[in-house]
Amino acid sequence: MRRFRRKYYDVFSHFYDRIIALHSQDKRAFLRRLIVERSKAPRGGRLLDLCTGTGAVALCAGEMLGPESLVVGVDFSQGMLNKAREKAQRKKLSNVHFVLADVARLPFVAASFDAVTCSHAMYELQPQTREACFAEIKRVLKPGGVFVMMEHCEPKHPFIKMLYYIRLASMGSPENRAFARDEVPFFRRFFSDVTKELTPTGGSKIILGVKK
Ligand SMILES: C[S@@+](CC[C@H](N)C(=O)[O-])C[C@H]1O[C@@H](n2cnc3c(N)ncnc32)[C@H](O)[C@@H]1O
Repeated sequence: MRRFRRKYYDVFSHFYDRIIALHSQDKRAFLRRLIVERSKAPRGGRLLDLCTGTGAVALCAGEMLGPESLVVGVDFSQGMLNKAREKAQRKKLSNVHFVLADVARLPFVAASFDAVTCSHAMYELQPQTREACFAEIKRVLKPGGVFVMMEHCEPKHPFIKMLYYIRLASMGSPENRAFARDEVPFFRRFFSDVTKELTPTGGSKIILGVKK
């Protein structure tokens, strides 16, 4: 299953940015800045972006946190990372790096990041992968560091809502549907000061927690 998803994203990487651009580039750009702001990563700090895909959030963080910062994007699709690296080179962002890894096993020492972000990916993980991933996030965050994730809310339009549930069902577990409906109890098992907000653009939500 994991190998299939990785291959799927390798192929999808060739169209991903164009599809997102069609969807709504302005809104996405605003949301990327918002998730980095909510992470509270300091200028010059260290931020890890999980399931980074073509690097949208990581590159935005690299610009916002400045040249002294270190931003690392992790993904298990080589195709997605190739696109992300091309974009970093075009933008001349030498503080942003991309690492091929599974989010269930992060190749970083403990307490090495000020913040961890994840956008539009956490719902897709298998329950056991998500469980391992949260434990890994907690391990690699410094005390006081923030984990922040963004996801789509349940769509209102019946047809889009059906597609949304097909996406969740394709991940094949009731745990995924429960997590998508309310992430807060899961977050509280790992983090303190958990909050959830709807974004001003509508249609997305941001959930965050702090490592004590
Ligand atoms: C829908 S894309 C989101 C990409 C990006 N965060 C964004 O907002 O545009 C999901 C990404 O998660 C990655 N992914 C899924 N499962 C993963 C895993 N277990 N480990 C690492 N990356 C994973 C996929 O390769 C894909 O690039």
